[in-house]
Amino acid sequence: MSTKPDLKVDIGGLQLQNPVLTASGTFGYAREYEHLVDLNRLGAIIVKGLSLAPTGGNPPPRIAETPCGMLNAIGLENVGIETFVTEKLLFLQTLTPPIIVNIYGKLEDEYTRLAARIEEVEAIAGIEVNISCPNVKAGGMAFGVDPQAAFSVVRAVRNQTGKLLIVKLSPNVTDITQIARAAEDAGADCLSLINTLTAMAIDIETRRPRLANITGGLSGPAIKPVALRMVWQVARVAKVPVIGIGGIMSAEDALEFFIAGASAVQVGTANFVNPHATTDIIDGIERFLLEKNISSVRELIGTLEV
Ligand SMILES: Cc1cc2nc3c(=O)[nH]c(=O)nc-3n(C[C@H](O)[C@H](O)[C@H](O)COP(=O)(O)O)c2cc1C
Repeated sequence: MSTKPDLKVDIGGLQLQNPVLTASGTFGYAREYEHLVDLNRLGAIIVKGLSLAPTGGNPPPRIAETPCGMLNAIGLENVGIETFVTEKLLFLQTLTPPIIVNIYGKLEDEYTRLAARIEEVEAIAGIEVNISCPNVKAGGMAFGVDPQAAFSVVRAVRNQTGKLLIVKLSPNVTDITQIARAAEDAGADCLSLINTLTAMAIDIETRRPRLANITGGLSGPAIKPVALRMVWQVARVAKVPVIGIGGIMSAEDALEFFIAGASAVQVGTANFVNPHATTDIIDGIERFLLEKNISSVRELIGTLEV
């Protein structure tokens, strides 16, 4: 086959030129990577998680390296929605890939207000709702670990927006399919998973945690098998498309996620190791399809044989 394979995918009504997106928090507001990556080649750009007000995040140390991964407790540092819309978006809207805004709040009302503000902004194609944050009203338990709380916050956001609504699931649960169903029932167009796994590391000399926050989120190749298992479980029961996230470093990793049922993937920690990871993965997927004589990446989605 000499013609280029078709990399186009659909994630809940939004058409993407290819299935490779940036994972929130690992690509800043994209401009940070402008001199390293041809940003217009990306499937879509997901920016750092935004809150209503600017946030400084947690005290340092906020990052620790672990075997085959990293721990972070950045604490969702960000410029806040208004500065994002009035400053960061000016650059982003000059790019061709759709811009997806990741949001978080500690109260349902914060999510609602963020969604209402984003709805007014034409240059934003969609919202990814991070439900891994502690819900202050529910005593600090994350929205994403309780099906009822997840349903309620997703429904609240859905009521504010007609834009693409992606719900990003936490892996820190017993049965991720329950949360997936709740998000879908509440009106999610698409599910993305996984966020980081709660974890920690200790310095044996000082007997102190390596992160000032004590615990943090584990990401990178160490979590890929867990992510793959969860994507497979969710894709089997979900009616909406699934985006795979977790330790995707190469095209081969991405291909595993497609076979497990993901319609697209997000690349996170890999950006810190290889700033070209996203475009290398796009090239690698295309090469694989050419070699195997597969005309479209869509033909791979959910083809796991068991
Ligand atoms: C430094 C850092 C910051 C992150 N910030 C966010 C964030 O703001 N919002 C969010 O939903 N996920 C955030 N994540 C989670 C990633 O988007 C991704 O779900 C996770 O790292 C797993 O993918 P990976 O193994 O490819 O990094 C962050 C991850 C890292 C490493």
